[in-house]
Amino acid sequence: MRRKLAAGNWKMNGSRAALGELDAMAQVADGPAEVLICPPASLISAAADRAPASVKIGAQDCHENSSGAHTGNLSAEMLSEAGATHVILGHSERRADHGETDALVCAKTKAAQASGLVAIVCIGETLQERNAGDTLAVVKRQLAGSVPEGQTGDMLVVAYEPVWAIGTGLVPTLEQIAEVHNTLRSALCDRFASQGDTIRLLYGGSVKASNAADIFATPDVDGALVGGASLKAQDFVPIVTALCVA
Ligand code: PGA
Repeated sequence: MRRKLAAGNWKMNGSRAALGELDAMAQVADGPAEVLICPPASLISAAADRAPASVKIGAQDCHENSSGAHTGNLSAEMLSEAGATHVILGHSERRADHGETDALVCAKTKAAQASGLVAIVCIGETLQERNAGDTLAVVKRQLAGSVPEGQTGDMLVVAYEPVWAIGTGLVPTLEQIAEVHNTLRSALCDRFASQGDTIRLLYGGSVKASNAADIFATPDVDGALVGGASLKAQDFVPIVTALCVA
């Protein structure tokens, strides 16, 4: 009942020339898994024009207001007009580099959804928090604070991304992933009743072709948010293929 989702986060990487990678992703994009690429904002419009219809295009952030004196920012409406259908919010790099709090991520999520964008809300513990045994408390607190009321599975995706696993090649054990995803599923069902079961839970952090199948076989993992391995079709396509057969 939850359609699998393979989401790529290009971060501050890519140029117009890189959009050629989207053509090669078309081969897997019509399968059972939804495919999404989130390029830098400067490329959203060109990516949306170029991408095959089955590859959706998303943004990596939006402002919490719909317009105004906010130099350098983009509103959800602007991103939607440029061709984005989804937006990643509260990525740990934004929380760390720009001081984004749960409350701000919650406001951005409301703004995104009001403009018709599907919000992909990111949460995850630091290594220090994991070593202190605080992982479940941290992700529950982030989920509660970053996600507004009244959610449904067609407007919200939650990505569990342990900060220490992002871009490091380190990955939690499958038991650790299952424990967190199970906790998040329970929290979503407690809060949103039957809708909680329709909200997709992605795992993110050093997903690659060699570990994707095992991660996707883990209970309550509905897909992945992929950074480095989403930049090239030759790395991303095998991940999408693993998700399609999971
Ligand atoms: P990574 O990044 O796949 O390069 O570890 C994941 C992310 O930040 O979403």
